[in-house]
Amino acid sequence: MCGIIGYCGPKPAAPILIEGLKRLEYRGYDSAGIAVGADGNLHVHKREGKLFRLRERVPEDLGGVWGIGHTRWATHGEVNDLNAHPHTDATNTIAVVHNGIIENFTSLKEKLQEEGYTFRTETDSEVIAHLIASLYDGDLETAVRQTVRLLKGTYGILAMHAAEPNVLVGARNGSPLVLGVGNDEMFMASDATALVAHTKQVVYIEDGELVKLTPKSYKTTDLRSREIDKKVDFISWELEEIEKGGFAHFMEKEILEQSESIKRAMQGRLDLEYGTGHLGGLNMANKELLEVERVKIIAAGTSLHAGMVAAYLLETVARIPAQAELASELRYRNPVVERNNIYFAVSQSGETADTLYAMRELKRKGARVLGICNVVGSTIPRESDGGVYIHSGPEIAVASTKAFTSQMTALYLFALIMARMRHMSLEHGLAFIKDLEQVPDLVARIVDRRGEIELLAKKYAHAGNFLFLGRGINYPVALEGALKLKEISYVHAEGYSAAEIKHGPIALINDDTPSFFVVPDNGLRDKVITNMKEVKARRGPVLALAVEGDREVAKIADDVFYVPPTHEYMYPFLMVVPFQLFAYYTAIELGRDVDQPRNLAKSVTVE
Ligand code: G6P
Repeated sequence: MCGIIGYCGPKPAAPILIEGLKRLEYRGYDSAGIAVGADGNLHVHKREGKLFRLRERVPEDLGGVWGIGHTRWATHGEVNDLNAHPHTDATNTIAVVHNGIIENFTSLKEKLQEEGYTFRTETDSEVIAHLIASLYDGDLETAVRQTVRLLKGTYGILAMHAAEPNVLVGARNGSPLVLGVGNDEMFMASDATALVAHTKQVVYIEDGELVKLTPKSYKTTDLRSREIDKKVDFISWELEEIEKGGFAHFMEKEILEQSESIKRAMQGRLDLEYGTGHLGGLNMANKELLEVERVKIIAAGTSLHAGMVAAYLLETVARIPAQAELASELRYRNPVVERNNIYFAVSQSGETADTLYAMRELKRKGARVLGICNVVGSTIPRESDGGVYIHSGPEIAVASTKAFTSQMTALYLFALIMARMRHMSLEHGLAFIKDLEQVPDLVARIVDRRGEIELLAKKYAHAGNFLFLGRGINYPVALEGALKLKEISYVHAEGYSAAEIKHGPIALINDDTPSFFVVPDNGLRDKVITNMKEVKARRGPVLALAVEGDREVAKIADDVFYVPPTHEYMYPFLMVVPFQLFAYYTAIELGRDVDQPRNLAKSVTVE
């Protein structure tokens, strides 16, 4: 979703801003712009479309050593040059970039219009520029503070004034902002990936805070001008992790990284002596964990599917009632919070508005909410009662892959802890660990055979519709397979329980609608095989992910990809990887923009 970058220092600002925006491209956007201050003026350039189009428009010799930039993902107003940020006041002396949604912009706009201010765009954000102008009395920081006190909604804002060279003012409420501390230069961004090429020292700005930057200083205050002491954090990952490193796409790199990222998610968290897991970040004593009677998982998109797998595991292995639910739905149904329930908010980005707001609602009701997140320092882990970082490293492709398998890993460890505290024996705990530890190697073996999936994708890429079908613990994997395919190839795909097709989806079956089945060697295998036959009998093409040695599947399916045998609980890891690869190669075959699919955003910070 929208990205923000800001710079003040000794260097020309425009190239730094554009490079920063490039690093934020992965979040998803439809237009971009920058404002640079030079010679007492602000030079604003904005353009619909990808960044290279903006770059074409920005003069090489623009000059100016401070400025702000933005990638916009449209919410209010269509995608065009005018609605792109930065927005300026009538005299072009104030420029503003904004992430989030100003809910009371209509009333503010009407009031400003009555006072004679003219609006040029359809955005909610323009109102901020005019408000600052109307309140400006020689000090940008004060004007921004007065402005944000009038705003209702969410914002991450960065503002500049032509008459205050090398000064930037940022403010946050609900949309992330992070400050990068350099040597005699300061940076500001909506996420740290835009900063790491310049500095690893960062300061996370919190809701209700305002920050004023100059090249050599930063000052953080609250909305009543009281200074706040902020701690400097260090980004632990390297620049190479947000670069493609020889891969064609980030998505390819991230799929292939999974055997390593799964290992990282379990590193230091396995207790080989007592056959259990160790998740210190939960901030819960064993005694408290023993009292847990129900686990609820809230999330969106791919993270929800990881949560669904985990809920299944928690019930079967730990015998604790568990359920995964869309955070967006939970929030508005006045959920019942019971004593001895715990909640997990699962989110790669740690910023998804639906998940964050649901978490806040649960906390208001007294719930204990733990986070399972990837981005260190993001809002969900900061506001949760504890949790687990999955340590996948930056995930740049919009379609989530490695975060999914690492979220599952963290939740598998939690299930193991809960099971061992209850009925699971030491012997079984050790066996569970052994099976989990083998997953990375098995994933590597699948990835090595990705050429086979590429051939399948080429063969089926032009089909009109797909069904992805699985059962039990692999049902969410089928949902994830369908989601991946729609997200990046735009091919219509539905995920269902294989049992459910006869209740509706079977009506869709024709020779242009392949069904992709997950066939593990567990108790539900024979049932799934029956469903495959039902599709075959109606002339639907059948693809299958099956376990090596299962010849019967090959007799029914048109095409089979075999995964190595493992314990039945570990199949979600092995089955999802071929689905990720299938979506990836299909998107390539269809010439799609794999890493930045149309209309999608990596981190959806609005409801
Ligand atoms: C967006 C992304 C998805 C992601 C979902 C949840 O829709 O495009 O890939 O699964 O948000 O994101 P989160 O960061 O909370 O895991």
